[in-house]
Order: sequence, then C-alpha cells, then structure tokens
Amino acid sequence: MIAVVVGLGPMGRGIAQVLAAAGHTVRVVDATAELGRAGLERIRADGATGDLDAAADVETALAGADVLIEAIVEDMAAKRDLLARVAAAGGPDLLVASNTSSLSVNEMGRAFGAPERLLGLHFFNPPTRMRLVEVIVGAATGEATVRRALALVDSLGKTAVVCRDSPNFIVNRVCRPLYYEAQLLLAQGVEAAVVDAVARGALGHPMGPLQLLDFTGLHTHLASSETALREFGDPRYRPIPQVRGLVRAGLTGKAAGRGFYDHATEPPREANARVVRRPGPPNGPAARVVALGAPTPQRVAELARLAARQNVVLDSSDAGWAEVLPPEVGWIRLHRRADDAVFAEVVEDPVAGIAVPGFVNRLLDHLGAPSVRVPALPGLVGDRLAYCLVNEAAAVVEEGTATADDVDAALRLAMNHPRGPFETLRSAGAATVYEALRSMADAFGDPRYRPAQLLRRQAIGEARAAR
Ligand SMILES: NC(=O)c1ccc[n+]([C@@H]2O[C@H](COP(=O)([O-])OP(=O)(O)OC[C@H]3O[C@@H](n4cnc5c(N)ncnc54)[C@H](O)[C@@H]3O)[C@@H](O)[C@H]2O)c1
Repeated sequence: MIAVVVGLGPMGRGIAQVLAAAGHTVRVVDATAELGRAGLERIRADGATGDLDAAADVETALAGADVLIEAIVEDMAAKRDLLARVAAAGGPDLLVASNTSSLSVNEMGRAFGAPERLLGLHFFNPPTRMRLVEVIVGAATGEATVRRALALVDSLGKTAVVCRDSPNFIVNRVCRPLYYEAQLLLAQGVEAAVVDAVARGALGHPMGPLQLLDFTGLHTHLASSETALREFGDPRYRPIPQVRGLVRAGLTGKAAGRGFYDHATEPPREANARVVRRPGPPNGPAARVVALGAPTPQRVAELARLAARQNVVLDSSDAGWAEVLPPEVGWIRLHRRADDAVFAEVVEDPVAGIAVPGFVNRLLDHLGAPSVRVPALPGLVGDRLAYCLVNEAAAVVEEGTATADDVDAALRLAMNHPRGPFETLRSAGAATVYEALRSMADAFGDPRYRPAQLLRRQAIGEARAAR
C-alpha cells in the first residue's frame, strides 16, 4: 500500500517509521521540500527501514496513494487548508486520516468535502513503541473507511480501539478525573507524593497522576481541561484553580524544574519513597481485619463488640466512619492489586482526632503490605481516584462513544494500567462504586461525583440477580 505522511514532527516521523517497517511504501511531506528531506533524514537516523521517500509537496506525494495520514500542527485552519489541497489532488478512493489529539474529526470531514473517507487515527507518543491507536469515527465516516482503517492498524501490529468523535477521545477523557481528583486531594491538604504513592501502590499505575502531569506539562493539561469544559459544557470538567496559579508562575512541571514537585530538591521518586512505609519482619500477634462498607448502627456496634475482645482494624474507605469509629479500632483500606500484591492506606487524621494504634503496623508487617498514611477524606485516596475514573468510563460507554472492552484495552495499552476501569468495576461491584460516588457527591457537593446512570442501573441489576 502507498501511504503519505504529512507533517514530520515527532508524531509524523514515528508514524512513517511504523508504516515503512510494516512493509508499506511511504512518502513523507513537510511544509517545504527542504523540511521534507530533513524530516526523511531524521527518520532514517532514527533507524527506519523499508521503502521511504520524501516528496516535494502533498500534490506530488498523492500520485497513486491509498492513504494519507496528516500529523501537521494542531491548528484547525492549517488542517483545513491541507485537506482542501488533498481533496483536489487525491484519488476517489483515498483514505484520509488525521492524528489530531483534540480537534473535531467531524469538522475536518466537512472541510475535506468527502467525510465518508475521513477519520482520526490517534497514535500515541512515541508511535514506534505505543501499541494503541484510537480510531476516531466521525458522524459521516463510512463503514468501509472504518474497516480499511482497522485493517491498516492491524497491519502495523498495533491494537485499534474505536471511538466516536467526541472531545478527548477515550484515554485522555477517561483519565481526566484521575488528574482532577489528584489535584483536588492536594487542595484538600494531601501531599503530592502521597497521592502518587497510592496510585502506584494501590492501583498499580506505573506513574502517579501528579508526576505524570509534571511530565506532560501543566500548561498542556490546563489547556485540554479548558477545552473539555467548553466542549462538554459540564462543570465537572472545570480545571482546579491551583493549577492556573502554577502555570501563571511558569511552574509547569519537570521541564520547568517545578510543578507539583520540586524536581531539584526532591524528585518524585524520592518523595514517593519517603511517604511509603515498607513492611518489616512479622513480629507479634496480628490484629483482626474487618472489611466493611458504609457505617450502619449495627456495624458500629459489631465493631465495638469485637474491639472489646481483640485488636481490630477496620478496612473501609467510607469517610462516614470518621464520626463513629470506636477509639481503640485501627482504620485502613487494604487494596489487593491485579498482581495480587497488597497495599494499605492507613487513616491518620490529627484534625479529626483519628490516631493509629500500634498494632496496625504489626498487622501490615504480618500482611507484608507497604502503606501510606492518609487523612479521613471521602473515599480516602485510592478508591476516590479509581471510582472517579470508572465513572467517566461508564459515561463514555453510556453515551455510545466506545465499548467497555475498548475502554479497558485503551487504558491498559496507553496508560499501562493493570486493570481497565470495567475490570475494576466488576471486581468492586457496581453497587459499591455507585454508593461510594453518591457519598462523595454528598460530602463534596460537586457535580464531579454525579454517578453515571449506567452504574445505577448495573447496581440495580446486580441486586435483582442476587435475589
Ligand atoms: N506530540 C504528541 O504527544 C502527540 C500525540 C498524539 C497526537 N498528536 C498530534 O499529532 C500532530 C502532530 O504532532 P507533533 O507533536 O508531531 O507536531 P509538531 O508541531 O512537533 O510537528 C508538526 C510538523 O508539521 C509540519 N507542518 C506544519 N504545517 C504543515 C503543513 N501545512 N504541511 C506540511 N507540514 C506541515 C511542521 O513543519 C512540523 O514538522 C498534531 O495534530 C498533534 O495534536 C501529538
């Protein structure tokens, strides 16, 4: 197949390399013939093999071409100009794909004039290493075009997920509340390293959300948050005020030396290591762990009765316990990860008068569980991050943007999450997630926690099936 790649920034160069490695004939183009030649040289210097050539302009490149992928600047006016030239010079069967991260595929289809042959192919950075490609289907994209695009992604040895054109597509949309909640936790007094250590330890994410934001740049995140808020018109997408202050101060993350972390004085890895308690050798009798959801009068009484006879540790992320926890009871949230390792959040909240009895550490040593201390906030840290992410994933599926399987595959491949959000949902149960979101909505009074109706219906379905 003859493929044309337009725009030789890091994305276009990587995509060209991947196409050539898969055996396609590749013609690369940039804004000028000279830039095109320079781009080709960089692609070769990056180790590209296969049938690659530079064309002087897009019209020349299009002769006999089957597919064109554009990866030029993220600017709608520039993309529209390019698409008009492609429409004039391309053949009647040319498949046209945009690598845009944030622009409307529907709008591009209209600018191109034959929207049935245009879609988005959203590669991740770097395209040579990242296995996921989001296939963005516009309202007027033809089925045959989708089939051709899926076959093309398959020929590259990559995994395609299908997403209806909608702001932020799948991965960047579903992860949005993860970033918001991480920042809100900061605004509620939790240290950045604690948030990230829980995301890694409890959820198995390879990097915590705040470290990730520092890595990508807070200005980029802020801009995409503004877009999400504008496009969805839903206050749940509004950016967190503190990030605006950091961006205005030029503290945009790792490249600037400071963002949520001060990378010069204590880089994220060191800060994370400081806040995590590693388990010691088992030593002495362990306490009894009692896993409970929200406090009810019966559960409180039961816990007090058990605590009168032995050391008891409550396992729950429901902040309602802060008011009713018997004084001699320890409080943790024990997470069992996809790889079966355990990790604990230990509730310690001097403001709320919640201390950690000595036997809690003995229990954690006995379980071999690393742990982090967290205040008594609704959902604590781990479940709050995980369930808000699940809620966004449920909204994406409910509105028909993508299927649950594709959402799971996307998060596993693009973010290296060990479990997709629907796997988390299945293991926690829809009722648990729904109730946790409702209690966060009550506690915070913020539309961010409004549960997707899909979760409510699934919770009802679970209850009916159990009857
Ligand atoms: N960088 C990422 O992490 C990432 C990830 C996924 C998708 N994307 C998307 O991929 C696209 C490219 O991203 P990038 O980071 O490689 O961009 P970039 O801005 O680094 O590079 C763009 C390239 O396009 C060339 N160009 C600009 N206008 C042109 C025109 N009219 N004709 C031909 N060439 C032109 C520029 O000279 C430059 O070489 C954007 O749409 C971006 O949103 C980027």
